[in-house]
Order: sequence, then C-alpha cells, then structure tokens
Amino acid sequence: MSPEKGRLVPVGVGVIGTGGMGGRHVRNLTHEVAAARVVALADVDMARLQQVAAECGAAHAFTDANDLICHPEVEAVLVAAPDRFHAALTQACIAAGKPVLCEKPLALTAGEARQIVDAEVGGGRRLVQVGLMREYDPAHVRVRQMMESGALGKALAFHGTHVNGGTLSWRSVEDVVTNSAVHDIHSARWMMGDEIVRVYTSYAPYSAERPETARLMLIQLHYRGGAVGLIECNMEAGYGYEVDIKMTGETGTVQTASLRSAVVSRQNQRGRWVEEDWLQRFDTAYLNEVRAWIRSVQTGAPTGPSAWDGYASMLVADACIASAKSAQPVAVEIPEMAKMYRRE
Ligand SMILES: NC(=O)c1ccc[n+]([C@@H]2O[C@H](COP(=O)([O-])OP(=O)(O)OC[C@H]3O[C@@H](n4cnc5c(N)ncnc54)[C@H](O)[C@@H]3O)[C@@H](O)[C@H]2O)c1
Repeated sequence: MSPEKGRLVPVGVGVIGTGGMGGRHVRNLTHEVAAARVVALADVDMARLQQVAAECGAAHAFTDANDLICHPEVEAVLVAAPDRFHAALTQACIAAGKPVLCEKPLALTAGEARQIVDAEVGGGRRLVQVGLMREYDPAHVRVRQMMESGALGKALAFHGTHVNGGTLSWRSVEDVVTNSAVHDIHSARWMMGDEIVRVYTSYAPYSAERPETARLMLIQLHYRGGAVGLIECNMEAGYGYEVDIKMTGETGTVQTASLRSAVVSRQNQRGRWVEEDWLQRFDTAYLNEVRAWIRSVQTGAPTGPSAWDGYASMLVADACIASAKSAQPVAVEIPEMAKMYRRE
C-alpha cells in the first residue's frame, strides 16, 4: 500500500484478536477515529468474533489471522491476539508490506524481536508500531517534556510503580516480565533517553512452594550514563490499578498523578477512587495511540514505539528473567540502533 497524503478515504483496518484489548481498539477505531474503518476481524473464538463484527459492522470475519492479513481491503493490521502470536503475525504483516500496530510485547524473546527488526530493515521501511502506549498517556508525556526542558537538570533516577488490582494469580516470572513489566521497561528507557546496561531482579513468589511464580517483582536498573532506576511490579495488590512514574533530576523531581477522581471527605475519612484496570487508567492513551497510528499510516511517516523499541525492551526483559532466575545482576547489551529507527 502506498501512503496517500491528505487522502479522504478512511484506512481499511483489520484487527486480530477481539478480546478485552482488541475490543477496545475496535471501538475506538469505529467510533472515535474518522480516518479509519474496521473492515475485517480475526479471532479463533467464533462467538466473540461475530459479536464484535456485528457491533462495528466489519464486512469480513476470519478464524485464521493470515486470511485477514492477505485480504485486499485490509490496508493496516492491529494485532491484539495473545502475546505468543505477536512475532509470527507481525512477520506476516511485514511480508505482506502492510503497516502493523502490534500489542506489547513485540515477541516473547529478544531473539524473535531481532528477527522482526531484521525483516523490517531488510524491507527498507518502517511498518511496525508496538503497543507500548504509555508514550500516549498525557501524564507520562508531561513528565517527559519536563525532563527534556532541562528545568530539573540531568536525570539521576527513574522510579516506576505498576500495580495490578485483580486476581491475575500464579503468574510465572517470565510472564510478569514480558507481559507486564515490559511496559515499565519501555518507560524507563524512554523517560531517561538512555539505555539500560545492567539489571538486578528480585521477587516475592505467590507461595514458597511455587518459586517459579512472581506476585511482586522489583527490578533495579543501571543506565549507560550512570543514572539508576527501580521498577516495582505488583501483580495482585487487591485494591485497584495504578501506574505511576517519578523522575529525579539534579534540581528537582517530577512525577505523574494518575488518580483522576475527586477527593471525597466523609465520616472522618478522606479518600479517592482508584481505577479498576488499564482500560480505565489508560483510556486516553489507547485512543491517542490508534489516532497517531492511523495518521502515520496515512502520511507514511512512522511514529511511536518502533520495532527497535520492542526489541530493546525484550533485551532488557530477557536480562530481567535471567537475573530473577540466578539471583545475580545481569548485564544488558543493546547494539547500536539501526539508522531508520533514530528519532530526530
Ligand atoms: N497495551 C496494553 O496496555 C495492554 C493491555 C491489555 C492487554 N494487552 C495485550 O493485548 C493482547 C490481548 O490481550 P487481551 O487482554 O485482550 O486478551 P483476551 O484474552 O481478552 O483477548 C485475546 C483474544 O485473542 C483471541 N485469539 C487467541 N488466539 C488467537 C489467534 N491465533 N488468532 C486470532 N485471535 C486469537 C482470543 O480468542 C481472544 O478473543 C495481549 O497481547 C496483551 O498483552 C495490552
């Protein structure tokens, strides 16, 4: 598909995976993004597929995602199937020459992610955006802008907290890192504007009998330029969903304030509502993300987290897993970024 500047015809989008996240993307694209039209859906769950197709009016529904990718009316693909399918589906989109917004993580290992980078570089043009969507959260953007302004001096430390409220239960160390902490790893790279060179991961398992599981994980970070960082990923806090970051500079700090609700004072107590899940907390980010993606498909100007970001975050993720397993600090080696991924 060749990009057309200022075209009036909406981009024909195919969405793979119509569950919680895919369903939200479909709704956003259908009701909030005039420049997009969801023309096809794919899911292995026939009932869900038909329900979402009826809701959004998609003309084509497939149980095999590859049929969607190849369909001539599908100009761009959004991958929201489970993590283990991301790498192969993204590769199929690159092979078909179609822009793809792939939910995080780009792949389950850095090796798989590297193959995607190589395929994209081989094709000579950026087609992949990765759903590391905190770059589209207004609170995160404000923190980044403050650090970039230089008003707080050089960045010394990154702090990220990621609190999941519900009963996700019995998540493996690998799953916590690649499915959840990968967001925080990306934030840590993006906020600092520097690469991570060493990690040390420790965690509390769900029970002593299940040491392969992680209920709460702490990841210490060391950056190339000397700064440090800490990520806390709590998989089952029991009270709601929260994501916050804090940057410490030489002359001050800046942090997000993710709680958007009013303060209620009543019966000798003062409190605020904590959001239930990511769909509530990041509603604006998900919308901004698909808007930016569709714009980039139309203009041909790539935007947002790239395949390189997906790859670099997986290099750090692999090191976090190795550190958790060995209880030792582990070095991360991020190679020099291929030219086409450099941001201005
Ligand atoms: N960016 C974020 O903040 C964020 C938040 C939640 C989930 N996610 C990501 O989105 C993806 C989907 O997560 P979810 O919470 O919607 O999960 P989900 O289980 O609610 O939905 C997944 C859907 O994919 C379908 N599916 C399974 N195998 C498939 C295949 N081979 N081809 C097509 N469809 C298939 C399932 O039937 C289901 O409908 C995951 O990769 C997850 O990591 C991202």
